Amino acid sequence: MQIARNVSLKPYNTFGIEVKAAEFSSVETPDELRQLLSQKGSLPFFILSGGSNILLTKDLEAHVIHINLKGKEVLKTGDDSVVIRVMAGENWHQLVLWTLQMGYGGIENLALIPGKTGTAPIQNIGAYGVELKDVFQGCQAMEISSGEVRYFDKAACQFGYRDSVFKNELKGKYIIISVDLVLSSQNHQLHTAYGDIESELQDIPAESITPEQVAKAVIAIRRRKLPDPAEIGNSGSFFKNPVIAAAHYASLKEKHPSLPGYAQQDGRIKVPAGWLIEKCGFKGFRRGDAGVHTRQALVLVNYGNASGAQILELAREIQQKVSKEFGIDLNPEVNIL
Ligand code: EPU
Repeated sequence: MQIARNVSLKPYNTFGIEVKAAEFSSVETPDELRQLLSQKGSLPFFILSGGSNILLTKDLEAHVIHINLKGKEVLKTGDDSVVIRVMAGENWHQLVLWTLQMGYGGIENLALIPGKTGTAPIQNIGAYGVELKDVFQGCQAMEISSGEVRYFDKAACQFGYRDSVFKNELKGKYIIISVDLVLSSQNHQLHTAYGDIESELQDIPAESITPEQVAKAVIAIRRRKLPDPAEIGNSGSFFKNPVIAAAHYASLKEKHPSLPGYAQQDGRIKVPAGWLIEKCGFKGFRRGDAGVHTRQALVLVNYGNASGAQILELAREIQQKVSKEFGIDLNPEVNIL
C-alpha cells in the first residue's frame, strides 16, 4: 500500500473543494486497513468514503484513509426475502441498480443518493419516505484504536433522522467495513405515498407498480430538482429539516399560511428548511462560485472554484437570516471540517 503526500482531495469530495491531505492512502481489503491502523504515525487518521457529506474548509493535517473495499454477496435466501452483505466502498446508486436487476426490493426510493455504502448508516440516509434503517440488519465496523471488528445490529446503531451512534458517542472511533441489508425478493412493500412519487406514477395502476418503476420515478424527480455532483459540486441537503414546537408552528402559520409542516410522533412539527431558505430570498443566490441551487434551496452548490470557507460563510448567512425571520435554528446535515 502506497502512502502519498500532499494530495488534492478535490476528486474525493462531491462539493469539489480544493484542499490538500498531508498523507493519503487507499485501502482495498480489511487486512490492509487493519495493518495501516496499526502503524500509528504522528498524524491522526481521517476516514474518507464517498466524500458526499462533507464540507472541507481547510487542508487536512491528517493521514486520510480512502475506503475502497469492494464486493457484495447474498448471505441468506428466505421465502420472500434475502440478506445481502455489501462492502463499504461500493457506490450506493450502483448497488441500488444491482438489487433491482437481481429482482430485490427495498432501496428503490434511495436511488441516486451520492456516496458509498459504508457511509449510508452513519447518517441513516433517507429519501421519499424510506430510510436506510427500514432495510438495515447490521454492519461490521473496525475499531480504529484496536483494529478489532465488531458487529453492530440495528439497535446498536441508534438510528434517528439523519443520525446514528456513529455521529455521536462513536464518532471517529469506528470504520464501517460492510453493511447487511434485508431486501424483499417477492411481495415487495412499495412506498409511493410521498407527493412527488405519487404524481410521477399516477398513470400506472397501483397494483402493477414495480420497484424498478419506483426507482425510475425517484431518478426522474431527483434529476429535476437536485444538481448532479458530477456537473455542479454539492453535498445534497446542506441543513436538516428543523423540528419545532407546535405553538411556534401555529404562530408562524398565521403569518405565513403556506408554510408546510409535518406532524411528528412527539407532537412537534417538522418544517422544510428549503421553504424557509427560499422565503428568505436565497433560492438561486450566487456569490462568486458559492451558491444556493436554483431548484432546491436546501442544496448549497459550488459552481467551480468556491472554497469551503466561502460555502460556509454563505451557510452562516442563511442560518442568521432564517433565525431572524422565523426564530428557527438550522443545523447542518453535512460534516464541516
Ligand atoms: N421547498 C420549498 N423550496 C425549496 C425546496 C423545498 O418551498 O427550494 C418545500 C416545498 O414545500 C416542498 C418541501 O419543501 O414540498 C419538501 O421538499 P423536498 O420534497 O424537495 O424535500 P426536502 O425536505 O427539501 C428531504 C431530504 C432529501 C430527500 C427529500 C425527499 C432532508 C434534510 N432532506 O428534502 O434528502 O431527498 O426530502 O425525500 O431531510 C439529503 O439528505 O441530502 C437529501 C437530498
